Amino acid sequence: MRTQVVIIGSGPAGLLLGQLLTNAGIDNVILERASKAHVLERIRAGVLEEGTVHMLEQAGAADRLHREGLPHDGFDIAFDGRRHRVDLFGLTGKRVMVYGQTEVTRDLMTAREAAGALSVYEAEDVQPHDFDSQRPFVTYRSAGESHRIDCDFIAGCDGYHGVCRRSVPERSIAVYEKIYPFAWLGIIADVPPVSHELIYANHPRGFALCSMRSPTRSRYYVQVPPDEKIENWPDDRFWDEIRHRLPPATAEAMTTAHTVEKSIALMRSFVAEPLRFGRLFLAGDAGHIVPATGAKGLNLAVSDVHYLFEGLREYYSEGSGAGLDAYSERALARVWKAERFSWWMTHTLHRFPDQGAFGQKIQHAELDYLFSSRAALTMLAENYVGLPF
Ligand code: FAD
Ligand code: DHB
Repeated sequence: MRTQVVIIGSGPAGLLLGQLLTNAGIDNVILERASKAHVLERIRAGVLEEGTVHMLEQAGAADRLHREGLPHDGFDIAFDGRRHRVDLFGLTGKRVMVYGQTEVTRDLMTAREAAGALSVYEAEDVQPHDFDSQRPFVTYRSAGESHRIDCDFIAGCDGYHGVCRRSVPERSIAVYEKIYPFAWLGIIADVPPVSHELIYANHPRGFALCSMRSPTRSRYYVQVPPDEKIENWPDDRFWDEIRHRLPPATAEAMTTAHTVEKSIALMRSFVAEPLRFGRLFLAGDAGHIVPATGAKGLNLAVSDVHYLFEGLREYYSEGSGAGLDAYSERALARVWKAERFSWWMTHTLHRFPDQGAFGQKIQHAELDYLFSSRAALTMLAENYVGLPF
């Protein structure tokens, strides 16, 4: 079999790239290791930048997002027992959209099916080959049979644990990494969110975040040690802990219920350089990871896809490789700014085991300064709503 672009991974990066290519008349196949149901069940991101929303519009997969998504003009940071508002719209003229990654994935899968483009789920042993030559190909097994797809390009959209980055010889790739000494325990509960906007809380017992998926579904997180086990967190303990970490009036207003999902996510900063190896391109979590605090992971996957799609479109419609040659540099310039912002949000809002009294005083001064300076708040707001592509 032959196609123009083989996309490895059917997360938001792979699905969005596939849809943009299909709409532009560029043939592509998606190979995904997991089942379709498994991909759809993974509960992850929730906050979309305006640029991400525009990309989903460009892909023709934003109708439901505009009907059901929740536009947010601001959010709160809680510390010292009080909530302080960050007026995103007032500071930047932009807002963010709260709409779950599960829904983004579902909308893109629906659009792909409607377009009749091929996705192979439960593809085993997916392997990119000869991407340093003019004739790359990808092999995989499906339902016990071996397959080979010849192509012009391979898009590695297979996330942090994928095969693409690992297929690159070590001498050709540099990695930059930081692992944080904590994780997030996240839950979902079918109760109205405690506030109509998100609340990020810095508290002596640790960070907490109140987010949502809809007016009747809450998504809450608390900072926990990195080796924490979900079994140690029955629902009652979670609700007691998050309420402790919120200002008293907010804690009192919180409605609790049985949780319908509970999971633990580690916090890591990671960047691979470059993002191009001959005819193989890495996009999204395959090339970089941010700690979740700034809500940037999914949005960065989308900005990578923007640059990669533009490069591929230029190649096929104008016969120019200039956009593809510039891909890695363009994408990484934006990635590093989001890495810096996510690192800063993480440092400003969490308790670190080795922080000490001096570190806590500095963190407090940082928060105090933030809410006394329009310039400082604008720095936060313009990064949170997303830097231009
Ligand atoms: P993935 O979603 O990881 O998709 C990769 C796909 O490749 C997967 O389907 C995987 O099964 C497949 N795959 C892997 N290996 C292979 C293989 N060998 N062969 C074939 N297929 C393979 N981001 C935000 O922007 N905002 C947020 O609010 C936010 N909150 C988050 C909260 C949590 C708790 C977590 C865990 C993450 C959050 N993120 C957030 C990050 C966001 O979810 C990721 O950055 C995003 O999923 C990246 O998309 P992707 O398509 O690059 O990778
Ligand atoms: C969500 C996750 C984040 O990392 C964040 O910063 C904001 C919201 C969420 O899952 O809703």
